[in-house]
Amino acid sequence: MDLRQMKIRAAEKALSYVENGMRLGIGTGSTAEEFVRLLADRVSAGLTVRGVPTSERTARLCSELGVPLATLDELPELDLTIDGADELDGALSLIKGGGGALLREKIVAAASSRMIVIADETKVVETLGAYPLPIEVNPFGSVATRIAIEKAASRLGLTGSMAFRQKEGALFITDGGHYILDASFGRIPDAEALSDALFAIPGVVEHGLFLGLAKLAIVAGPVEARVIEPK
Ligand code: A5P
Repeated sequence: MDLRQMKIRAAEKALSYVENGMRLGIGTGSTAEEFVRLLADRVSAGLTVRGVPTSERTARLCSELGVPLATLDELPELDLTIDGADELDGALSLIKGGGGALLREKIVAAASSRMIVIADETKVVETLGAYPLPIEVNPFGSVATRIAIEKAASRLGLTGSMAFRQKEGALFITDGGHYILDASFGRIPDAEALSDALFAIPGVVEHGLFLGLAKLAIVAGPVEARVIEPK
């Protein structure tokens, strides 16, 4: 079974948590997009939901497929968010932001009673950090912010290269108008300490460590999708 089939399998299982009338947070990325496609089929069959998209990209797909949308200001309290992840561990700590939507993803997840992560099994790790950590920074003073991040990480014993994300030969700009620094720290033994250290730097807008937000993960392999709850 290929990766896409695993993503579809995880997305299918996530649909069983969606109830009529729910206010949904709708994630970003290839796995979340499989969920949107399946959700759209249910909507055309009569399911009534309203979704808050976590990116302009997701908003476009939902609009194309007829999934009713609202803004987070219109629906500031959500019942359930379904989103993908770049990495997850047994405590359901996540690295997100590979698609650059981490800021809106985290705001939407935090506004939800429940966040469910959907992923293929290649995303499950013992310790976070093999995937470069996306850090969203304000364009003003971004080089100074990068130096401050390097120093803070080094105090925690984390070294490794950092690079401003590029897209089509130019700096990648997030939906919020910020840059992304991808930090290849390697293994992150204390994600809480890193999170605190990053938030202490003024130019850091948000980072891709999602700690304590996901309450359930649906992880699909070649045979079945299993449910993981935090250890
Ligand atoms: C988007 O910014 C990310 O947080 C995605 O949720 C994450 O990168 C997973 O994407 P895929 O489902 O495409 O792997």
